[in-house]
Amino acid sequence: MTDKKATLAVEGLDANIELPTYKGTMGPDVIDVRGLTAKGYFTYDPGFVSTASCESKITFIDGGKGQLLHRGYPIDQLAENSDYLETCYLLLHGELPSEAEYKEFVDIITTHTMVHESISRFFRGFHHDSHPMAMMCGIVGALSAFYHDSLDITNPRHRIISAHRLIAKMPTLAAMCYKHSQGQPFMYPDNNLGYAENFLHMMFGTPCSDPKVSPVLARAMDKIFLLHADHEQNASTSTVRLAGSSGANPFACIASGIATLWGPAHGGANEAVLKMLEEIGDVSNIDAYVAKAKDKNDPFRLMGFGHRVYKNFDPRAKVMKGTCDEVLAELGLENDPLLAIAKRLEQIALEDPYFIEKKLYPNVDFYSGIIMKAIGIPTDMFTVIFATGRTVGWIAHWHEMLGESVKIGRPRQLYTGATPRDYTDRAGRPAASVDTF
Ligand code: CMC
Repeated sequence: MTDKKATLAVEGLDANIELPTYKGTMGPDVIDVRGLTAKGYFTYDPGFVSTASCESKITFIDGGKGQLLHRGYPIDQLAENSDYLETCYLLLHGELPSEAEYKEFVDIITTHTMVHESISRFFRGFHHDSHPMAMMCGIVGALSAFYHDSLDITNPRHRIISAHRLIAKMPTLAAMCYKHSQGQPFMYPDNNLGYAENFLHMMFGTPCSDPKVSPVLARAMDKIFLLHADHEQNASTSTVRLAGSSGANPFACIASGIATLWGPAHGGANEAVLKMLEEIGDVSNIDAYVAKAKDKNDPFRLMGFGHRVYKNFDPRAKVMKGTCDEVLAELGLENDPLLAIAKRLEQIALEDPYFIEKKLYPNVDFYSGIIMKAIGIPTDMFTVIFATGRTVGWIAHWHEMLGESVKIGRPRQLYTGATPRDYTDRAGRPAASVDTF
């Protein structure tokens, strides 16, 4: 708490309302509005644009500066020097691991990559063209049924075991979704391979042919996981926290995060980017689409541009852009027509006054979508891969929240519906004349 008090003067109230304020280690001070309910007021903040829903020590973002820190470490330093599993350890435990701790962590994750054989039977219930995010929501939620030995959420050891299981099994499940859609046999994880390399092996290997994964592509995949590992209190993480606040088990909570991530304004954007590039079809059509994006009466938006928090640049996008160039060079795809559209759009966004004034820069999903497309990952798998990388962030926030005394999340509302009225007999009622959906 700080010495500063915020004073709220409300017309008609005899006395002003004094509210305490708090200072974080970084970022804006916050005003504690909890006392307002007793005074007969709620705060109103749709989209939570001015609301700190919790206290957290995991990730800090300064959107204006384009700064993203995990436990204090800048994302570009982690992307340059660390790897996904070391970053997972950092997010979960708060510090970078020693060599011995790192080896132990990698070993634990590696030896938990297999899923129960019964899980493979769940996939049979899904039609071959089911969206992989639909499968992921269902299958990750179903994991709740397999681990009764460690579902005591009040026990920190149980929580960490669930964290290990989720981080280890997500790539296996993600690859199983893909294999199911292809009608190919599931590939077992190969524990001799690194995390990202193993994922690509399970995606693209078959029992007949299991080509060695290119180190450039494995590194790019690892970076995609790392750059998506956490992002503060975004929509899916807030959903996981909200679900967790009711005492739900970790697998159910992560399934709720996956469902939220699916939306095109959040994790679904990387899939939407590729769909948009395909719809644009040719560089000659770009101007028409840019005009649509600028037209206030047209709901069309350029997917992969803009961010709720980064109003300067997305630091993850900077790293991703470098990786994108490496991957395209490795695969000899520099002249791909879809990429030509992407490059031209990027150029427009950086030069056009509309995008400059509204601070709409290419975000991480813009480049990660292009990389994954180049690697040969189908677009409907993009969000699944985002979910795989983000699992550690979700679980780190869930674990942090449960380490403190938790109050169930229960927002209030500004009610603008009907005032009390008496029920009338259906026979004498006029037509409702309402929109039917
Ligand atoms: N194309 C065209 N105009 C846009 C775009 C866009 N992609 N994004 C925002 N605008 C305009 C918007 O029309 C509005 O204009 P006006 O002020 O005239 O009404 C203004 O910019 C501000 O938009 P907003 O919707 O109030 O901004 P927001 O902070 O609520 O939304 C966003 C952020 C990411 C949802 C939005 O920029 C968007 O829909 N982008 C496309 C989808 C996308 O790429 N999402 C991925 C986000 S990064 C991944 C993640 O972290 O989840």
